[in-house]
Amino acid sequence: MICENFGKCGSCTLYELDYEEQKKFKIDYMRDLFGSFGIENFEWFSSKKSHYRSRAEFMIYHDGDAISYAMHGLHEKSRALIAECPKTDEKIYDLMPKLLAYIEKNEILRKNLFGVEFLSSHDETLAVLLYHKKLDSFWQSAAEECVLDVKLIGRSKNVKISVNGDFVKEYLDTNGERYFYNLHEGSFSQPNRGVNEQIIGWILDRIFAAKRADLLELYCGHGNFTIPLASLFQKVLATEISKTSINAAKQNAALNGVQNIEFARLSAEELTCALGRVREFKRLGGMDIFAYDFTHALIDPPRAGLDNISREFVKGFANIIYISCNPQTLERDLKELVKTHEIAHFALFDQFPYTRHIESGVILRRMSSNK
Ligand SMILES: C[S@@+](CC[C@H](N)C(=O)[O-])C[C@H]1O[C@@H](n2cnc3c(N)ncnc32)[C@H](O)[C@@H]1O
Repeated sequence: MICENFGKCGSCTLYELDYEEQKKFKIDYMRDLFGSFGIENFEWFSSKKSHYRSRAEFMIYHDGDAISYAMHGLHEKSRALIAECPKTDEKIYDLMPKLLAYIEKNEILRKNLFGVEFLSSHDETLAVLLYHKKLDSFWQSAAEECVLDVKLIGRSKNVKISVNGDFVKEYLDTNGERYFYNLHEGSFSQPNRGVNEQIIGWILDRIFAAKRADLLELYCGHGNFTIPLASLFQKVLATEISKTSINAAKQNAALNGVQNIEFARLSAEELTCALGRVREFKRLGGMDIFAYDFTHALIDPPRAGLDNISREFVKGFANIIYISCNPQTLERDLKELVKTHEIAHFALFDQFPYTRHIESGVILRRMSSNK
């Protein structure tokens, strides 16, 4: 990827290395971090080299009536004004200058705008405009008149106005199957579609059909992994803290005709309490969570990794599938999990080229001495 913002924009920090050098840099880093676990080789999954992000956020910089996109600069407290970002997928990349020019000419849309968040799918693009002003019917009319091919949402403190819907329709192709998802504004979705497809394929390939067994998923988001994995299990219980995500997950399961998943809006800590009979939750409705025969736990926590209670809890599962976006918290958690489990597979997914970030997938199996 060639980007005119390299060396100015703080988003890409490995811009001086070509893709093969970045790969080596990341593998060396992971070898150092996980060497003490006896891991020398990782499975590696590459990203597209440009136009790989289907989610991106930019600040808006005002200079009189002119506006520009901006990012935090490479150096502390600096700012980089940017005209384009070749990390964004083709739909966002194409829309960015058109949307900026459109907003610049329209005072109602322009005034007090401080940021734009983009979300795209194969066929649709959504842009959330963030304001330091209360949005009203004038803003709504101005947004409704927008002639660009984009779903516009306006957000200001306690106000959200959606002009033509607040999700994009997406599909993912993995292992010969196509899965359908509605990706909602305001809920998590994986930023790199191609790498996401590879993560799903990797999990499916590594988990042998456990048709008579049940899966527990914590941090399930909108059902990104839940839906493809459901075909391998008899029943699935999937939980997540965000209301928007759990509602989207239910919708997505229905979209794919998947019927063996129960979704519950519970944090990982709450679910641990519920299964440990420490507390009951109305949010579980009539679900019989004790009727499951769990053999596998799938966890994809935020950067903070597992809390102490959830870490101890997942040790009770024969198989743990751990997807992590933060090697440091993964290392901390694995130190504990390897007391009872052995690492069967360790893969690196390059979700974030040109940065130091790397996504990992680890599959752990309980050691026979702990059965
Ligand atoms: C890295 S995302 C993974 C989502 C999903 N697996 C996917 O691939 O789209 C982490 C998810 O955990 C949720 N989350 C954050 N803290 C949580 C908690 N304490 N308990 C349960 N879910 C939580 C977030 O809302 C987010 O959807």
